[in-house]
Amino acid sequence: MTDKKETILVTGGAGYIGSQVVLDLNRVGYKVVILDNFSTGNQAVLNNLDAVFFEGSTADDQILTKIFFAHKIDAVMHFAAFTQVGESVKKPLLYYQNNVAATLTLLKVMQDFEVNNLIFSSTAAVYGLPKSVPVKEDAELIPINPYGASKRIVEQVLSDLRTSSNFRSVIFRYFNAAGADESGLIGERHDPETHLVPLALMAAAKGTELQIFGNDYDTSDGTCIRDYVHVADISAAHLLGLQHLLSGGVGGIYNIGGGSGYSVNEVITTVEAVVGKKIKTKIVPRRAGDPALLVASSDRLNQELNWSPKYTKLEDIVSSAWNWMESLISPHLPK
Ligand code: UFG
Repeated sequence: MTDKKETILVTGGAGYIGSQVVLDLNRVGYKVVILDNFSTGNQAVLNNLDAVFFEGSTADDQILTKIFFAHKIDAVMHFAAFTQVGESVKKPLLYYQNNVAATLTLLKVMQDFEVNNLIFSSTAAVYGLPKSVPVKEDAELIPINPYGASKRIVEQVLSDLRTSSNFRSVIFRYFNAAGADESGLIGERHDPETHLVPLALMAAAKGTELQIFGNDYDTSDGTCIRDYVHVADISAAHLLGLQHLLSGGVGGIYNIGGGSGYSVNEVITTVEAVVGKKIKTKIVPRRAGDPALLVASSDRLNQELNWSPKYTKLEDIVSSAWNWMESLISPHLPK
């Protein structure tokens, strides 16, 4: 336990990654205020979190002002965002509105209240089609979908704020978050679900079909390769980033990934082994906005914030996700 008791505003604290971080903040004694509008978050997780809760949007400066008046916020962790690559291609304005415009509102209120510490959730999607892998933070940023572009714009805003004021931020570029907290209390729960690991688990458990979005990529087996990293490891990086900022650190930009790439087919094989059932699959056309290959170098995070992943095997990540999902869906499984 730490004796620190700073107060952290967590936007999107009812979401998949946000709720994991709140649980971990609780475990080490920080005070937490959550702002969430449940647009993608899950109300039920709040039962397992110790936080003052405000229902609303980061785009609403009135609710933000109310929060900052009522609580002496020491740092903000900004998770609230839309995060689906495919959806962003179809609805770009929604992504720029929610991920860029709403963040500008949050930043303005932070400035008004002289709150200068921000942890920002960015994404591997800012890299687009990286020229070499594992991709490092100084690689060119040429996003190929509006989701990545929206996060890229906010990264630029944060850089400009750092130049113009005392504002400091830690930007984390997540690769593919997966898995669930070991306690089984919280985990991934999207509606609709679009992510590969939960969809594959559901397909295995329920005997439904899983679509594979393209098998004609220039990869070892033709399916896309991603770097799956456990949500608890992502959360651990956030606590390190927070300590860094609160102890006067200058901030920075860090990838969070496990450093190993797994193809869609490899994920499917792993899920089959964990659940003990075969998955029915169907090859369908590529999903717009998907790069073939994304694998992180997290060396900077390791060297500067002393982070390394606890979960290094895909099987362990998938097992923890299955442990969580099984408890959710077991009443609905075919006997
Ligand atoms: N996929 C399928 N079938 C499905 C779902 C996914 O084949 O039913 C494939 C996708 O095409 C992709 C891979 O599985 O190749 C992983 O897809 P996810 O939707 O699980 O994750 P993404 O890679 O699209 O996106 C995730 C985060 C983004 C982040 C990105 C960075 O959701 O926020 O990782 O790598 F930008």
